[in-house]
Amino acid sequence: MSQDAAKRKAAEAALAYVQPGEVLGVGTGSTVNHFIDLLAERQLDVPGVVSSSNASTERLKKTGIPVLDLNNTGTLSVYVDGADEADKHLHLIKGGGGALTREKIVAAASRSFVCIVDESKLVGVLGKFPLPVEVIPMARSYVGRELTRLGGRPELRAGFTTDNGNLILDVHGLDIVDPVGLEAQINGIAGVVCVGLFASRPADVLIVGASSGTRVLKAD
Ligand code: 5RP
Repeated sequence: MSQDAAKRKAAEAALAYVQPGEVLGVGTGSTVNHFIDLLAERQLDVPGVVSSSNASTERLKKTGIPVLDLNNTGTLSVYVDGADEADKHLHLIKGGGGALTREKIVAAASRSFVCIVDESKLVGVLGKFPLPVEVIPMARSYVGRELTRLGGRPELRAGFTTDNGNLILDVHGLDIVDPVGLEAQINGIAGVVCVGLFASRPADVLIVGASSGTRVLKAD
């Protein structure tokens, strides 16, 4: 089974978590694109969706599913999103697509976070995938020096601006043994908008698509 087919399998399994008649949140990326397409194909009873990025908003609009403002929806029943890495505690690295800040907001505003990945994303220790950090442009160099002090090798994502008008530093070389602590530490650096570690609010359900079948992991 190709990686893309495994992503679609995970996305398909996430349809079971959609609450009929309730607004849901959706993330960003190729796995979520399958989920958006499936939502439209299966014509589920979804009155609207809160989107985590301009890219997902565009795709949702093409399907005809209404895109709603989080300020008008209140708490969402479920948020469905992909990840770049996930561990068995359902801690995640996200932000490969650069949408980490809005993703973290929508996840925080949702009762349940269902994460959908193919099996290549499941790791023992987070950090092989460079950790994305969204920064205010004027703080780029300062934040870079602070991230180096923490043991990482930050690299500016070339030619990329987030939907919020900021920059991304991708931090290489981190062995993330304490995801909750590192998330708090990086969020505490002046000029950091958001770090792509989702550990203080991990996923509640992790759906792993694989050739051997789809596995569902729950938070311990
Ligand atoms: C975007 C993300 C995505 O969820 C992550 O990059 C995974 O993407 P894909 O589903 O394409 O593998 O965090 O900011």
